[in-house]
Amino acid sequence: MKSAAEFHQDMVAYWNGPGGDRWTNEAARTEKMLSRVADLLYPLAKAKSGETVLDVGSGLGPTTVELARRVAPDGRAIGLDVSAKMVALARERAAAVANIEFIAADAAAYRFDTPFADLLFSRFGVMFFGDPTAAFANLRKALKPRSRMVFACWRRLSENPWMLKPLLAAYEHVPKLPPAGDDDPGPFSFANEARVTRILTGAGFTAPRFTPADLIFDLAGGNGMDTAVHQAMNIGATSTALRDQPATVRDAVAQSIRQALAPHQKGQSVELPGAIWLVESGVA
Ligand SMILES: C[S@@+](CC[C@H](N)C(=O)[O-])C[C@H]1O[C@@H](n2cnc3c(N)ncnc32)[C@H](O)[C@@H]1O
Repeated sequence: MKSAAEFHQDMVAYWNGPGGDRWTNEAARTEKMLSRVADLLYPLAKAKSGETVLDVGSGLGPTTVELARRVAPDGRAIGLDVSAKMVALARERAAAVANIEFIAADAAAYRFDTPFADLLFSRFGVMFFGDPTAAFANLRKALKPRSRMVFACWRRLSENPWMLKPLLAAYEHVPKLPPAGDDDPGPFSFANEARVTRILTGAGFTAPRFTPADLIFDLAGGNGMDTAVHQAMNIGATSTALRDQPATVRDAVAQSIRQALAPHQKGQSVELPGAIWLVESGVA
């Protein structure tokens, strides 16, 4: 069995390798799909002019840019991400923003010498730590007393047909991924409220408040079924299951995913339900 440290290194390698590449290649479509999640987080985060915000797992930085706008002119937004390539691109994209900075580092290991942030924010960037309690305890060192924390994470895979349906269609042709253990890092690892509560309180945060949000995600981003099939094959668990598969198998998978998604097509959109938690906490 893998240790927490080995799982963590796998995740770091994934985001610096295929995960980061795919996220970058699909950036425009993914952002369109996930913008609603950010729109739900901002009112909870209540970032105010003059504040310093730490955006954890900031990726290509779309939320960091918006947070920078909200805390301007005197506040600043700092994006922290372990993927060097994604950070390089985020810096390029935000070149015109004065009050923004990106750090390419592992959130679990980066040395925060003095507390500087009023708010920790993350859209789907905190579920990939091998030892999440230790990682959050490390992040807490970046936060001033009474700081707030707001993040979004996925609820269970079974509650997220936008991911589950294409994955099950792929499994008609490729071997199933090994089932994730309860404590293994990954996109659905923060689905269990009791586990997240244990992690956060163990790391020195207040008992979190969980607000469920049920959303509809358009896998096609308004661009039709071909785009939806492409998107479904290139994100999350389905993309991992298809890694290194030959073109013949990928073609067969595409056909099965197309059939599975067909009942969800509405004009040029392909809409499936997804379920997230909006999690609010603070420094205890
Ligand atoms: C699902 S993406 C979300 C990106 C971004 N927050 C967004 O919503 O567009 C997860 C991000 O978390 C980052 N990440 C994963 N493990 C990390 C770690 N240990 N430290 C910092 N960032 C990490 C990945 O590199 C990736 O950019």
